Amino acid sequence: MNGIKIKGTGRCVPEKTVTNDDLARIVDTSDQWITTRTGIRRRHHCTTETHANLCAGAAKAALARAGVAPEQVGACIVATVSADTAVPSAACLLQRELGLPEDIPCFDLNAACTGFLYALHTMECLLNASPRKFGLVVGAEVLSRLINWEDRGTCILFGDGAGAAVVECREGWPSIGAVLGSRGDDELLRLPGLEAGERSFIQMDGTKVFKFAVETVPRCMDQVLQKAGMTAEDVDFFVFHQANARIIDLAVRKYRIPTEKYYKNIQEYGNTSAASIPLVLSELEEQGKVGPGSRVLAVGFGGGLTWGGALIEFV
Ligand code: COA
Repeated sequence: MNGIKIKGTGRCVPEKTVTNDDLARIVDTSDQWITTRTGIRRRHHCTTETHANLCAGAAKAALARAGVAPEQVGACIVATVSADTAVPSAACLLQRELGLPEDIPCFDLNAACTGFLYALHTMECLLNASPRKFGLVVGAEVLSRLINWEDRGTCILFGDGAGAAVVECREGWPSIGAVLGSRGDDELLRLPGLEAGERSFIQMDGTKVFKFAVETVPRCMDQVLQKAGMTAEDVDFFVFHQANARIIDLAVRKYRIPTEKYYKNIQEYGNTSAASIPLVLSELEEQGKVGPGSRVLAVGFGGGLTWGGALIEFV
């Protein structure tokens, strides 16, 4: 199979920020507790912006940075659990907004916080079967709509935003070598669907999710490196799903990853689920920390349960 590489990234986040002090006025918590337990200082929440607006903003920025026109796109996937509508999908709305070709697949993908990595792998498979060699992968969430404002264990964690990547598939390029997994579980993390009627809130057993995450992240990293026949030294940059700074710190310590080889933006956005990894990628590219030739190891985990990792190169 021919591999994909990232040609350009983009992001779009709502203007309004909600600080820890803002939350301390709603639930029994404090800036000190949230900062030390999670690393989060603020998060962005939509006011007038919609999920579709965030997707379009991130996708347009990624296409512009990649220098790819909408008509060159061979498939579009939006990884999300919080689209404006179940039907039409966010990806179909994006097809209309961007003027993507009509003879390509556009669909949403739900793998919770691992969604962007699931979508990259799916895109690699799709582009191998497509005459068009560019793909659009978006991770977008409006989790502020799904928060129980009476639950201090969850309402402090989540934020809104979107990140996007335009990928290119070429003969002879190595596969991203995605390692993906899933295990059905509705005890650790749950977001009710139609059964909940109007109101649907994220429910979570934070301590159990934390344990799952600290076991899963290094296991995924090992599997990705083993599959590629590489070691951590062969990786230019490590990108972690931004769920809790302490989870990232544990992985970084275990692999002795130097400060200049990983990145956190959880302090600014909180956990944005499927948007988290592309938000990091987009900031890294903008800051020149990654660029053509960079090899990035990305790792994610989340509801489902799902997990995954991949070695992603930039071109
Ligand atoms: N402010 C103040 N106190 C809080 C609080 C808050 N926002 N949330 C919980 N607490 C309290 C608890 O009630 C508990 O009090 P008690 O000891 O009197 O019972 C105490 O803090 C410790 O709670 P605990 O849940 O054990 O804290 P923790 O260190 O595990 O941190 C999370 C909680 C949610 C931050 C942490 O478990 C976590 O990040 N889990 C992973 C979540 C995640 O990644 N989810 C998404 C997956 S993609």
